[in-house]
Formats: sequence, structure tokens, C-alpha cells
Amino acid sequence: MEYYKEYANILEQTEQDILGELMNILDNLTEDPEHKPYEHIISRIKSKESTEEKLVRKGYDIDSTTALLKLSDIIGIRIVTHFVGDIYLILSGLRQHEKWRIKKEKDYIARPKENGYRSYHVILEVPFYSEDINTICIELQLRTIAMDCWAALEHQMRYKKNVKNTALIANELKRCSDEMASTDLTMQTIRDVLMQ
Ligand code: GTP
Ligand code: MG
Repeated sequence: MEYYKEYANILEQTEQDILGELMNILDNLTEDPEHKPYEHIISRIKSKESTEEKLVRKGYDIDSTTALLKLSDIIGIRIVTHFVGDIYLILSGLRQHEKWRIKKEKDYIARPKENGYRSYHVILEVPFYSEDINTICIELQLRTIAMDCWAALEHQMRYKKNVKNTALIANELKRCSDEMASTDLTMQTIRDVLMQ
């Protein structure tokens, strides 16, 4: 955190404010408190190493002001839901929020990545209460438990580079992703039937 220097406290406060606002939005989406539209939420502030790596990769100056102005995932929040439908319910809540502006959306659910990665990414512009920076962009990832499970396993295995059969493994991972997506749809259908 010392990396972000004069911004460190504001950054942590911003993260807490966003999480608080998000909880408000989520709580108002469903009437029944027994049926939360999410399973869990995690949040992180990007590490120094990862921030510098990305600044270098994108050809930017390496300092905290540039990072806050140019990178959209210094604060990253992930909402993991039980069902696919919950993701769209949460998106509808986000769109109605006055303080935040949706800058970009990447629908890796309608269009999964080649490797099978599924998630809905939203880049949100949020207020930032520092003297020289008034807003920053943050990344919100929305996924079901199944999508999160796949992403976690794929992420773990990605670094095992010294394997043969790379193509076969990639194929199998993609197949797992498709099977999990199919299960997600079945689960959604079961739930819809139960809720009728
Ligand atoms: P960067 O990759 O962050 O430079 O930006 P980008 O524009 O490519 O963003 P994208 O929305 O594609 O991915 C951002 C984040 O999504 C990553 O940091 C991961 O958390 C997640 N993500 C994207 N692709 C994958 C993937 O193939 N596997 C896994 N496990 N996570 C992914
Ligand atoms: Mg990427």
C-alpha cells in the first residue's frame, strides 16, 4: 500500500465506500433477505508488482498518479453469484446508480474467451476524493460459482508451462468450461421452476 503514497488512505477509503454502496445496491435487489443475489464478494487493491508490470506493458510512466489515471483495475472487485440470472439482476442495479458511470462492459458470458473464460466485466468510473484526481476507474467482475471455479482452476494450471499436450489440455479446459456453463443454465432453470 505504501506504493500509492499520498493516495493510499484515499484508495482504501474508496474501496470501502464502493463495497458499502455495492451492499446497498445488492440488498435492494431482492425483497426476501433469505435470497441474496450473490454468494460472496472479494476485493483487492492491485499489488505494486502487478501495477508496475502493467504500466510497463502498456508503455506508461511508472508512478502512482499514472497508475490511478490510466489503469482501470487498481481496485478490483468480484461478485460471485449462485445463478447466471443474478448477474443480470445486479447489472440492472448498477445501471441505475447515479454516482457511478459504467465506462466499459465486457460480456465474456455471451462471448466467452477462446480458452473458455466466462465472466461479465464492468469498468466503473467512481468518485475519488484527492486533490488532483477526482475519479478513478475500477474493475468489477461478475461470475457464477461455476465460472469462478473454472477461472480459479485455469489460473492455477496456467503457470505449469513444462507440460506436453498443451493443445489437448487447452481443449479439455474449454470442454470443462462448456459443461459448467451448461450446468449453470440447468441450475437456473431448476431455480426458475422452484420460484414459480
Ligand atoms: P489486462 O489483462 O488486465 O491487461 O486487461 P484486459 O483488457 O485483457 O482485461 P480482461 O477484462 O480481459 O481481464 C482482466 C481480468 O479478468 C484478469 O486480471 C483476470 O482476473 C480475469 N481474466 C481474464 N481472462 C482470464 C482467463 O483467461 N482466465 C482467468 N482465470 N482469468 C481471466
Ligand atoms: Mg487480460
